[in-house]
Amino acid sequence: MHAVGIVAAAGSGLRLGAEVPKALVPLGGRPLVGWAVDSLRAGGVVDVVVAVPEAERDAFAAVLPADVQLVPGGATRTDSVRRALAAAPAEAQAVLVHDAARPLTPPAVVARVLAALAGGARAVVPVLPVVDTTVVVTEDGLVGSDVARAPLRRVQTPQGFDRSALEAGYHRLEQLGSWFTDDATLVMSSGVAVHTVAGDELSAKVTVPHDLRLAELLAAGR
Ligand code: CTP
Ligand code: MG
Repeated sequence: MHAVGIVAAAGSGLRLGAEVPKALVPLGGRPLVGWAVDSLRAGGVVDVVVAVPEAERDAFAAVLPADVQLVPGGATRTDSVRRALAAAPAEAQAVLVHDAARPLTPPAVVARVLAALAGGARAVVPVLPVVDTTVVVTEDGLVGSDVARAPLRRVQTPQGFDRSALEAGYHRLEQLGSWFTDDATLVMSSGVAVHTVAGDELSAKVTVPHDLRLAELLAAGR
């Protein structure tokens, strides 16, 4: 099975608040996007397409391996993934969509996603249990009800897809409008069963400054 990795790296990182796009923010001296590409490759993905902010293409080219393909991203993550998918090598039958903002994803997570696809899943996501008590809060700030936690999962990336299933999802999206935040829910909406494999706390997304401080500690300990 030939799989291509798509890395969504075209966001600006407003919540992190750095002076450069989030994917270029250094962790242990290397930009987040470089870590993300390396973990895909270490997990068994060879071809990688990275969606980057159009104005920053040169800065991304300077820090990524020469054989990584760069495409201009779009205004939303969905647009960025769609553009990278359109540029993916024709021979790739499977696609792993990953966030540049997850620098420390263990290669074993990537390998689990690939193994599920090789085993016949058309869509697969890495998940983790919800550990905190989870409640619904009403508009006036009161706890309305608690939520049964046992079946809840937090969804991470890389998310793996049969290419035709993902392309069909994006094709449908053009007719529906861009309101999906996640590729797996998009594919699920066209009737494809989405399988799960174990995610990893190390694969946490860097969103706010606290996440970067935590990632620095973890990267230093490797
Ligand atoms: N992303 C993208 N294209 C966009 C928006 C986001 O490729 N137009 C990517 C980001 O680069 C990131 C991933 O999608 O790797 C997850 O998005 P998020 O964590 O929200 O990153 P940002 O959008 O950059 O951050 P923020 O929402 O805080 O501005
Ligand atoms: Mg965002």
